[in-house]
Amino acid sequence: MKSVAVLPGDGIGPEVTSAALDVVDQLGLPLDLRFGEIGWECWRQEGDPVPQRTWKLLEETDTCLLGAITSKPLREAEAELPDGLRGTGLTFVSPVIQLRQRLGLYANVRPVADLADGRFDFTVIRENTEGLYAGFDFHGVDDALWNVVGGHPNAQVSGPGATSVTLRLQTEFGMDRLLRYGFAHARSRGYTRLTLVDKPNVLRHSSNHLRERLELVAADYSDIETEILNVDAVALWMVRRPERFGVLVAENMFGDILSDLGAGVMGGLGLAPSGNIGDHGSYFEPVHGSAPGMAGQGRANPMAMMLAVAQMLDHLDLSVPADELRAAVRTVATRRTAVTYDMGGTSGTREVAQAVADELAQR
Ligand code: NAI
Ligand code: MG
Repeated sequence: MKSVAVLPGDGIGPEVTSAALDVVDQLGLPLDLRFGEIGWECWRQEGDPVPQRTWKLLEETDTCLLGAITSKPLREAEAELPDGLRGTGLTFVSPVIQLRQRLGLYANVRPVADLADGRFDFTVIRENTEGLYAGFDFHGVDDALWNVVGGHPNAQVSGPGATSVTLRLQTEFGMDRLLRYGFAHARSRGYTRLTLVDKPNVLRHSSNHLRERLELVAADYSDIETEILNVDAVALWMVRRPERFGVLVAENMFGDILSDLGAGVMGGLGLAPSGNIGDHGSYFEPVHGSAPGMAGQGRANPMAMMLAVAQMLDHLDLSVPADELRAAVRTVATRRTAVTYDMGGTSGTREVAQAVADELAQR
């Protein structure tokens, strides 16, 4: 029996979570679902968006299903604290960032599939801990950094105080574990090609380093074809020929951009699922946020959450029900049995859940 921490969160999170779990019921799986709290309401009431009891729940369970979490700028966060907690130095730290750091979730995995006619099916795997988002980001440059960038003609005109710098960090530890994850994912999901997304003709040395690591790791996966493509070319081809891709692996910023492009190629936020995965933990969520303006109206599309559940089931080695669930969602999307506003229909969240459950019941 696998256990899942279910954290519905804020806004439309609880609505799409409950719709997806009704559908899971229909699958009759050996899952122990354990509910917990996370997000903006926890912050407003307790000054902590990820309470200790939630960390404990995450420790005790095999994986986590997350709805969505509202985040607001620091000043607003402070203002919404109760009297006793305001001015005590508490700061709001994004719960998803806390989860990724504390659980070591280095791979952000975004399946992108054509629900309507199955024309494409690929997965973007984004590195989550280093690259251009490693946190080495400076406004104003000290002597050590000036030694590196001061020779640039524009920096000479501006001077150190009027120059800002971001560094792209790549470590063999970080690159190797991501590449291994990418190849293992490709093999277990039946993809025959892995594309490393980079910028070798501009970032020559770091890209060459990455190429060396790719070649080393690829030696263990001779059944998977590999290639290295420039990120800009990948953006173009993802739109023009998405069917050519299998697994795409990218550093943090390139992957951030391409994974949202993937959600767009798929048909929008109401459809796109994601997983954040490490060697000792994971959570699965829809790509969309809490859409506070739509909360409580029962209009949100629950398909992204259902596909996040399917991705989670794959991760728990329950790939047969995962495929059934994806097929049922696909059938409802293709036949347009129940269609929410974002896909041009008028159905509500619960009607989509009912249609998917009916579809599963017929199998
Ligand atoms: P959002 O994804 O919540 O909403 C953007 C737009 O997409 C909305 O106008 C809504 O109409 C549409 N949309 C989103 N999900 C949909 C669904 N399931 N069905 C139909 N339409 C859907 O992004 P936004 O507005 O930038 O952020 C709102 C809040 O969510 C913020 O507090 C933000 O910090 C948070 N957020 C949380 C994320 C997470 O939990 N991982 C990710 C992105 C944003
Ligand atoms: Mg993003």
